[in-house]
Amino acid sequence: MIVPPLDLKTQYQRLRQAIDDAVRGVLESGQFVLGPNVRALEEELEAFLGVRQAVALASGTDALHLAIRACGIGAGATVLTSPFTFVATATAISYTGARPVFADIHPETFNLDPDRVAEYLAGKGAGPRPGGRAKAILPVHLYGLPADMDPLLTLARTHRLRVIEDAAQAIGAEYRGVKVGSLGDVGCFSFYPTKNLGAFGDGGLATVQDPALGERILRLRSYGGRDRYVHEELGFNSRLDEIQAAILRVKLRFLAEWNGRRRAIAARYRDCLAGLGIGLPGEIPDTVHVYHQFTVRVPDRDGVQKRMAELGVRTTVYYPVPLHLQPMYRDLGYRAGDFPEAERAAREVLSLPIYPEMTDSQVDEVVEACKRSL
Ligand SMILES: Cc1ncc(COP(=O)(O)O)c(C=O)c1O
Repeated sequence: MIVPPLDLKTQYQRLRQAIDDAVRGVLESGQFVLGPNVRALEEELEAFLGVRQAVALASGTDALHLAIRACGIGAGATVLTSPFTFVATATAISYTGARPVFADIHPETFNLDPDRVAEYLAGKGAGPRPGGRAKAILPVHLYGLPADMDPLLTLARTHRLRVIEDAAQAIGAEYRGVKVGSLGDVGCFSFYPTKNLGAFGDGGLATVQDPALGERILRLRSYGGRDRYVHEELGFNSRLDEIQAAILRVKLRFLAEWNGRRRAIAARYRDCLAGLGIGLPGEIPDTVHVYHQFTVRVPDRDGVQKRMAELGVRTTVYYPVPLHLQPMYRDLGYRAGDFPEAERAAREVLSLPIYPEMTDSQVDEVVEACKRSL
C-alpha cells in the first residue's frame, strides 16, 4: 500500500456535491472578488475563532505582512520570532523593512522558548544584536501546537511589544481554553490547500480584537483606502476571491471533525510508536494540538526517510534549514551554533503522513514502515 503525505483528492470526492454547488453559485452570481461569500466566511470564522474581526486576505504570507504593517512596524524596528518555521514567517517581517531577530525554540514543542525570548529582551543570549528597538514578538504555532503564549504575553506587556501570532498551521488549536489567533494583537492564518482548512488555491486571514487594527488591515488589503479611489496610505492588493471563500465555507463546516480525526490518528501513532526510541511530539497540558503535522525525531533521519519511501510511505522534512542559516539571511550575521535546538530539530525531524481521510490501516502501515526503517 502506498501512503501519501496527504490526500486532497479523496477529500474532494467526499464533498464533491457541496463544493460543486458552491462554485456554480459563484459562477452564476457574476461576483468574483470580495463579495458575499468572503463577508460570510469572515463572519463564520469570527464565530469559530472567537475573535471580534476577521479579514480575509490573499495568503497567509499577506496576513503576516499586513499585520506587521498595521501595527506600525517597519524600517528601523526588529521583530523577534522563531528560527524554526516556514520562511514566510520571517520574509513577512522583511517585507515591511523591519528586521527579523531570532530566539531559540523549546526542544519539546518546537516553538519559541519564552526563556530564550526573556534572555534576548534582557540583552543576553546568542546571535547578533542589531540596532533598532524590538517592536513585536511573532510566535509560530508550529505543526498545529500552540506556542506557550502566557509567558510570551507577559513579556510583551512588560516590554511594550505587540504580539502577532503565526497560526498558519494551527486553525482550531486551543491554548488554555481559547483558540489561537485570538490571544495576541493579530492572528494570521493560511488557507493554502495543504492546511487544516485549505482552499483550492491561495488564501489567508488576519484576526483582531481591536477594531482600529482591523480597519487598518482592511485598508492595506485594498490599495490603502476604504473609500473607492481615495488612498490614505501605501496599500496592496490582497483580496480573497469568491470561489475560494465559497469552498472554504463548505469546508469550515467539517473543520472541527477533521481536527478531531487528526488528533485520533496522532493518538494511534503515539500508542504504536512508544518505546522505540523515537521522539514523539509533546502533548502540552491545557492545549489542543490540531496536528497539522505529526512530527517525530529520529536518529539517522535521512536514512529513515529513504527506507520508509522504499516501503511506500512518503514523509516530509519541515524544515531542513533553520532561518538564521538561510542563504538569504546571511546578512543578518547569524552563525551555526547560535540556536542549537533549532539546528538539532532541523537535523532530526520527520513528519509522518497525517490527514483526516487517512484510514487506521494506513496509519498501521506507516507505523510498520517506520519500525522497519529505524
Ligand atoms: C508557519 C507558516 N507561516 C506562514 C505561511 C505562509 O502561508 P501562505 O502559504 O498561505 O502564504 C505558512 C504556509 O505556507 C506557514 O506554514
